Amino acid sequence: MSKPLIKEYSSPGRKGYSLPTLDVPDINLEEELNPKFIRQQLDLPELSEVDVARHFTSLSQKNYGVDSGIYPLGSCTMKYNPKINEDIARIEGLSNLHPYQEDKDLQGSLKILYELKNNLAEISGMDEVTLQPASGAHGELTALMIIKQYFKDKGEERKKIVVPDSAHGTNPASAAMAGFEVVELKSNERGMIDLDKLRGLVDEDTAALMLTNPNTLGIFEREILEVAEIVHGVGGLLYYDGANMNAIMGYVRPGDMDFDLMHFNLHKTFSTPHGGGGPGSGPVGVKKFLTSYLPKPVLIKEGNFFKWEYHRPHSIGRVHSFYGNYSVILRAYAYIKALGADGLRKVTENAVLNANYMKAKLKDVYYLPYEEDSLHEFVLSASKQKEKGATTLNIAKRLLDYGQYAPTIYFPLVVKEALMIEPTETENITTLNKFIATMINISREIENNIEIVKNAPHNTTIKKLDEVKAARKPDLRW
Ligand SMILES: Cc1ncc(COP(=O)(O)O)c(C=O)c1O
Repeated sequence: MSKPLIKEYSSPGRKGYSLPTLDVPDINLEEELNPKFIRQQLDLPELSEVDVARHFTSLSQKNYGVDSGIYPLGSCTMKYNPKINEDIARIEGLSNLHPYQEDKDLQGSLKILYELKNNLAEISGMDEVTLQPASGAHGELTALMIIKQYFKDKGEERKKIVVPDSAHGTNPASAAMAGFEVVELKSNERGMIDLDKLRGLVDEDTAALMLTNPNTLGIFEREILEVAEIVHGVGGLLYYDGANMNAIMGYVRPGDMDFDLMHFNLHKTFSTPHGGGGPGSGPVGVKKFLTSYLPKPVLIKEGNFFKWEYHRPHSIGRVHSFYGNYSVILRAYAYIKALGADGLRKVTENAVLNANYMKAKLKDVYYLPYEEDSLHEFVLSASKQKEKGATTLNIAKRLLDYGQYAPTIYFPLVVKEALMIEPTETENITTLNKFIATMINISREIENNIEIVKNAPHNTTIKKLDEVKAARKPDLRW
């Protein structure tokens, strides 16, 4: 049902406030001020407080988020985040700081940054971490700039970055943006790196291989040490896309897998609701031999004093104004401190358990293209349902009718009619069962009453869109 705009509720003279009687002499603004400084009457809606509260509450109910229900977006990890971390990010003494304050006045906050970067180094097996980059993709770009500078210092101008075809789209984009040539590596039939193909692809012109482990199919690359040997064998670097850290924390560390550098997605793994482009934080971790290239300034500790060090002659320079997205960093810090090492390990266990439970329940109804064990996410295909006439998109839209969010669809590109599902560690078995039952029910509907699926959604504010018109002539105003 379409809802009136807030202006349409307006009634002249209706107010949402009451002010005490004026206890100072009233003045006439037109006499006191130059008329050019006096605003014309604004056409604002006139409403009572309850009108406003109901209007915005009703708008908020039209939205769907992790606080409304499961949000099983594979690769994008939309999990519920503890609300206490929101409170911590808003503590006045932290949120009202100014980055131009002197180091001596910021010791508490610098300590937080220092501890967080050390915690991330420990979790990942890297030696040093910068908190500057503002997103995963920004972390990738930062790391690629480090890779470039490293080879430049060695007097080499390596041009190629190898990226598997199952990689997140930001990987090839970042490599191209950093001025490299992207070489695609086709996955094998198990959805993993094909060692022979990799050997055939890399050479003295290869700067790095960008890899996610588990990869974007949710599959752990078991031959990772051989992969590292092949890449290092030609003098290249191994880069870890750490956006999927909730699949491995406490069990394995990228540093121990022989990765040379990596980025984290704090906003995915360690709290902070995100989506729609932000806010994010993509710290970059490096092994010792790359520390001098990190963005400056670098946070150091001299005795008990924390300070920014600017004299870094080999640094790639700044990648962000000031020191990073502080409020996201605070949430990550609170999350890590609250959970501790055991808690983070439990996060991984629950993420992996939930994904495997759901996969086991759905794999006979939807087609499972890769049978390899998966970790925190898995990819199904709706190809069987497509043969009956309903597409992955139809299924995704029908899920909305049942009050549940859809998984990532049509990604990764290596799977036709892909449904990429990441239930995350925060969902309990009741929620998982509800989602599973809905998916099975939709598949049954496709056999018995396909039109209801093909024309979905029926219960949302905006019904089924004409996809072509929506793409070609988007109506973004209302
Ligand atoms: C595997 C992987 N790499 C990189 C990124 C990019 O991160 P961001 O969206 O913060 O730029 C994502 C995003 O979800 C991801 O899933």
